[in-house]
Amino acid sequence: MKKALLSANIAFKNFILFLRPSIFLGWSKSFLLLMAYTLYLSKWIRAQNKTLKFNDFFVFKKKHSKRELLYEHVVKQQNLENEIVDYLEFGVASGVSFSWWLKKLTNPENKFYGFDTFEGLPENWGFVFRKGDMSSAIPTVNDDRASFFKGLFQETLLDFLKRGYLTGNRRKIIHLDADIFSATLFVLTTLYPYLNRGDIIFFDEFNVPKHEFLAFKIFVESYYVNYETLGAVNNYYQVAFMVK
Ligand SMILES: C[S@@+](CC[C@H](N)C(=O)[O-])C[C@H]1O[C@@H](n2cnc3c(N)ncnc32)[C@H](O)[C@@H]1O
Repeated sequence: MKKALLSANIAFKNFILFLRPSIFLGWSKSFLLLMAYTLYLSKWIRAQNKTLKFNDFFVFKKKHSKRELLYEHVVKQQNLENEIVDYLEFGVASGVSFSWWLKKLTNPENKFYGFDTFEGLPENWGFVFRKGDMSSAIPTVNDDRASFFKGLFQETLLDFLKRGYLTGNRRKIIHLDADIFSATLFVLTTLYPYLNRGDIIFFDEFNVPKHEFLAFKIFVESYYVNYETLGAVNNYYQVAFMVK
């Protein structure tokens, strides 16, 4: 029975490939993927809504500054002001969120690492943003706890890790704000061996189905990552997780 099912499956797949469906339906692939991942996202949000207390779902208008309420909530809930932490931000641009964290976490032992091309997005993002958009000079922060790493994450992060910047015994706050799928997935998978229970991960554009959400989904499913959702604002546009 199993053998017959496998043979039927292979025959069906070969038939579909023989028909070369991309010639007729190729135009629809991006839309179909968007629909499929929107359904996954919606299902995931429904599950979170059952228990997640710090959550504004559903609001009609996104207010980007609300992300600071999420940061405040996590800082307070996790007592981060009384801990020595490593803060890593992927996608710094002009440093708005980076500076918020620098000001908030005042312990002189904290370290703040910012990664960015500082030449803008390395590829197009959605319909609106083009490669090179969001380019910005390295921010001036006047705080010697902060360091910036200029270049693609794919070029700078491995070297950063090899050089032993992460000591291992501090809690990490990882802020993912690169917007795009490839960058987000690369950072998550590269940092996976360094993740410890209690580490916190923020996403800044989480509810974009084919980008940050997809990277998160692939990551947690591929590495069997256990996590707790700490809070969300703007209909899950900004979300915070803790590794369990
Ligand atoms: C939305 S902006 C960051 C905004 C910033 N966190 C803030 O709150 O002001 C996204 C940034 O991600 C950077 N970025 C995206 N993909 C990258 C990659 N693979 N390597 C390095 N930087 C990347 C872009 O250069 C851009 O500056």
